[in-house]
Amino acid sequence: MTSASLLSRSLLTEAPRSKNRSVFTLIAGLVVGYCLAQIFSSIAPHESLYPYLSRRFSDSQVATGGQLAPEQSGLKHDHRNDNVSVAEQLKKEVRILCWVMTNPTNHKKKARHVKRTWGKRCNILLFMSSGADEELPTVKLDVGEGRENLWAKVKEAFKYVYHHHYNDADFFYKADDDTYAVIENMRYMLYPYNPETPVHFGFKFKPFVKQGYMSGGAGYILSREALRRFVVEGIPNPKMCLPGTVVNEDIEIGRCMENLNVTAGDSRDEIGRGRMFPFIPEHHLIPAKADKNFWYWNYLYYKTDDVSFA
Ligand SMILES: *[C@@H]1O[C@H](CO)[C@@H](O)[C@H](O)[C@H]1NC(C)=O
Ligand SMILES: *[C@@H]1O[C@H](CO)[C@@H](O)[C@H](O)[C@H]1NC(C)=O
Repeated sequence: MTSASLLSRSLLTEAPRSKNRSVFTLIAGLVVGYCLAQIFSSIAPHESLYPYLSRRFSDSQVATGGQLAPEQSGLKHDHRNDNVSVAEQLKKEVRILCWVMTNPTNHKKKARHVKRTWGKRCNILLFMSSGADEELPTVKLDVGEGRENLWAKVKEAFKYVYHHHYNDADFFYKADDDTYAVIENMRYMLYPYNPETPVHFGFKFKPFVKQGYMSGGAGYILSREALRRFVVEGIPNPKMCLPGTVVNEDIEIGRCMENLNVTAGDSRDEIGRGRMFPFIPEHHLIPAKADKNFWYWNYLYYKTDDVSFA
């Protein structure tokens, strides 16, 4: 027998043996796993893996149909052992006022969930609506609802913010009631910037405005100086900011910022990764099987291939 045939025979016999072995390993693993699960569940029969979850629906809440009363709405899911010292420090140094555009239909459906999640991490959180709501609460603006009133609403909201909170924050973030923002990361992004610099941030689109404008979907952030220019120099001057109202408020505030020499900032990180996004996470995370003619590709200010729209 040649050495070549020996080799091939040993390969032939090796294959089934290793298959048997992996089946054995699998069965042994299942048995051991099952036994361990039994042991653990008998050691701690009353300990829930999710103590916060089980606490959320107490008897009184079940009696009210599982609805959380407003005073119980503070999220119970804390990360108690997290080291938050850097986040706490940043909260003092980079103060963010968030204002959320909402409307009476969405107060309970969307806005209250902003308050219970990311919104409470802003230094100041305001809800702008045409309707009053004591639970949120809202700032009631004297502007009609509907897309055609967006521009007027944005101007009224920023006027309110300027007149009541100019000195209470360094940056002013406009979001919608379906936006999600990680405020700790936003502070980290803004930390290098002086609030007295005329600058604004968001997800930048290229057309219509020479320096680009911030897509409404991601919301946008004005520095304190940008806010001052907008309200004091922009809104009262029709040469700077369009009076009345228009449908595309994001383009309009972009034009207005450019007229006021407020720089369209770059919200990407030091290696060019985006930090503000206009669409739902799924469309940004699942990589490109994109329609090349989709308008988004022509709107991008910075080239990227992260959007799917499969
Ligand atoms: C928390 O993090 C800060 C900064 O990284 C560090 O100086 C501090 O010692 C940490 N505290 C604890 C309790 O781990
Ligand atoms: C913007 O900058 C230009 C060029 O420096 C200047 O002429 C103009 O007056 C500035 N406008 C405002 C509103 O600051």
